Amino acid sequence: MTKVRVKKRNVTIAIGIVVVGIVLVAGIFRWKQELDYQKTYEFKLEEHGYSKEDTAFLIEKLEDKELDHLLELEMDQNIIKFMKETYYLKKNLEKYLAYQKEHPEDELSNIVAIINVGADKDWYSEYTETDLSKDYLLLCNKFHQLPENYTPEDLTKVKNWYAYGDDPQLREEAYSQFISMYNAAKEDGQDLIINSAYRSYQYQDDLYGKYLEWYGQQETDAMAARPGFSEHQTGLSMDIMTYGANASTFEATEEFTWLKNHAHEYGFILRYPKGKEYLTGYEYESWHYRYVGIEAATYIYQHDITFDEYYAYFIEGE
Ligand code: DAL
Ligand code: ZN
Repeated sequence: MTKVRVKKRNVTIAIGIVVVGIVLVAGIFRWKQELDYQKTYEFKLEEHGYSKEDTAFLIEKLEDKELDHLLELEMDQNIIKFMKETYYLKKNLEKYLAYQKEHPEDELSNIVAIINVGADKDWYSEYTETDLSKDYLLLCNKFHQLPENYTPEDLTKVKNWYAYGDDPQLREEAYSQFISMYNAAKEDGQDLIINSAYRSYQYQDDLYGKYLEWYGQQETDAMAARPGFSEHQTGLSMDIMTYGANASTFEATEEFTWLKNHAHEYGFILRYPKGKEYLTGYEYESWHYRYVGIEAATYIYQHDITFDEYYAYFIEGE
């Protein structure tokens, strides 16, 4: 073997070693890259069954610990659909999914509303004392109770010409806003009269007791709040009537139509709307208005939601 041939062979071996080395390093690099990729949420979510598009949506929307939790749940297309609902609350995701399994026919937006307000439970079954610090936005419903001794500090006597009966009272701001609303309605030829405003715990207790005797439990609960659960005790609610009308005829009056279009401009909402009984727990009341302030009232009016839904999403939230 000549020296030249030996040299050539060595060069070939050296090149071979370098090539093998490069291939090996590249392989290790690729392998490491693959291992790193397998640790990403992109990989894990796609492995879990989510599409590329849904995976991107989830990564953008959720924090790491929420993604970890999601990976523990069975993959479900409805998770994405619920997350895209306007009033989706992440704390309620598992409840939405469980409720949907039981009620597959229900629209997702309805499920979100039901769970958010707690209406999947029996009325009065689990209630808490309401957060009074929310002031004009405090919630009083079948799951949020007022303390028995709660009397608003700024109750103001309503002048007789605005009301039927003696000495109704409202909280100051609700009253002044009612006066503005009353005057605007008057200019449009409408007469608004307050039929019932603030009611104490004791008053509501007597009223509820009378209804119980007359109508029995089920009917009474659909139309009157149990003591401690009536919005009338907040001093922010009132029943509005007009001359010659009663509970069954008020809806057909021009005053009702006027209120329907304008009450929110003064911060009032129709509190127990038609078709939302399953969320409020009360039969439709065309006469019961609640002061929540102009911003909330306008939102509720424009988006056709109940105060219970508004509170759950915007006030209580996550
Ligand atoms: N009628 C309403 C629900 C009340 O009793 O407060
Ligand atoms: Zn009322």
